[in-house]
Amino acid sequence: MTHRFNEYRSPLEQSLKHSVSYLESLADRPVDKGTSSQALRTAIGGRLPLKPTDPSQVIDDMVKNVDAGLIASGGARFFGYAIGSSFPASLAADWLVSAWDQNVPYYVSSPAMSVVEETAADWMVELLGLSQGTAVGFTSGAQEAIYTGLITARNTLLERAGWDVATQGLFDAPRINVVVSDQIHSTIKRALSMIGIGLETIITVPTDDNLRIIPDNLTETIGLLEGPTLVCAQAGCIDSGAFDPFNELADAVEAHGNAWLHVDGAIGLWAAASDKQKHLLAGIERADSIDTDGHKWFNMPYDSGMIVVKDAAALSKAMGGSNMGDYLNDAMDKPDRNAINFGISASRRARGVPVYAAFKSLGKEGIVEHIDHCTDLAKRMANTLADIDGITVLNDVVSNRFSAQFGHGDDEYRNELTARVVHRLQEEGTLYPSTSGYKGLKTMLFSVLSCHTSVADIDLSAEKIIEAYLTEQECMKGSIRG
Ligand SMILES: Cc1ncc(COP(=O)(O)O)c(C=O)c1O
Repeated sequence: MTHRFNEYRSPLEQSLKHSVSYLESLADRPVDKGTSSQALRTAIGGRLPLKPTDPSQVIDDMVKNVDAGLIASGGARFFGYAIGSSFPASLAADWLVSAWDQNVPYYVSSPAMSVVEETAADWMVELLGLSQGTAVGFTSGAQEAIYTGLITARNTLLERAGWDVATQGLFDAPRINVVVSDQIHSTIKRALSMIGIGLETIITVPTDDNLRIIPDNLTETIGLLEGPTLVCAQAGCIDSGAFDPFNELADAVEAHGNAWLHVDGAIGLWAAASDKQKHLLAGIERADSIDTDGHKWFNMPYDSGMIVVKDAAALSKAMGGSNMGDYLNDAMDKPDRNAINFGISASRRARGVPVYAAFKSLGKEGIVEHIDHCTDLAKRMANTLADIDGITVLNDVVSNRFSAQFGHGDDEYRNELTARVVHRLQEEGTLYPSTSGYKGLKTMLFSVLSCHTSVADIDLSAEKIIEAYLTEQECMKGSIRG
């Protein structure tokens, strides 16, 4: 079957129509329609089709069949986990990425995409106040960025210790000490477990009441360690938004002699763009590598992460792109940006395009306004809730998120009441916070990352949270009495 180029028009027009309807419905759509997996399987699954179906019909049917199982996390009142929405220019640019269907590992396979990504990378370094020459690679998300950063760290630390991972592998290599806080994100551990460093080598240091590394403990710990040492810190803790003390950590890493500082900035790195917030990241430019997400606070469509490495040559060496086989020698010889030197992927879509579109569309001022607005809204919600008797905000709110608990009484009672309040809110559908944990307590995690959230959304959501708290408190009184 041969397709003609004019056959794209009709399914794409259907796709545009459905996309716009969905996006416009986000203003009122419940986050979770609560359908069962069985109902979804009946609608979506069935036998492998034998005969062709018209592409526009495929699009129409798919839209109808998946609808009940979509989670409206791109809406204005989705406050769970760490999920953002999409800036309009970035979503539109993302469609073009698919239509252009460019492969980007080499300059020669798409000169235009190479220059777009190079430009987006340079603008990101400038926006965040990082050192000139810092490398940025575009990844699928923070997890892939973490792999990329930690592989670069591992290879560089071992090279300094006289061991070449690329040729010698890891068996019999010197051991790498790893120092993290008790709040480090699971994706850092996941990467350590997969890249041959192992979880056994981890030394965990404690955090304070705001879940921030206590610098004295860490400096002392690093000072006692001999041999290659990897330190992982955070810019934006999932439960409190806290930023670790990067200058103190960088001092300890520099004093050690063969240490590397990686910062997980999946949630909070973008605060470095704001004059009001960048003090939280003082010293970040001294980190050896930083991962971040585009698809969280920066409101890119999914499949957007970035790895930032201060020593571009170390990143390129660790990615090993220079020896790809004869058929790619000409491609690799080009002096321009070959994306394969900046990340793990070889063939991939041009992820830098939506990022470039965001920079162009919002400008530095628009980005800073978005970042400040989210933090202001998180603080507004936390202040409103903290004024209510029996609602406790557990952290100082410095960024886009906080954790709260409901009720008076012992931990067990507050944990149960808190879970009930969050579940009631999720079922009611006006807003969607999620549950989490904070030093052993069950909490409501409230995260503001969407470019659509307004002051009115926050005030309406505050009313609903207070109402849910009072209702569940009464229910629990009833069940305890009963
Ligand atoms: C602090 C932190 N680091 C890393 C990640 C991993 O990000 P991703 O899911 O984009 O790979 C997350 C995800 O929520 C996170 O919150």
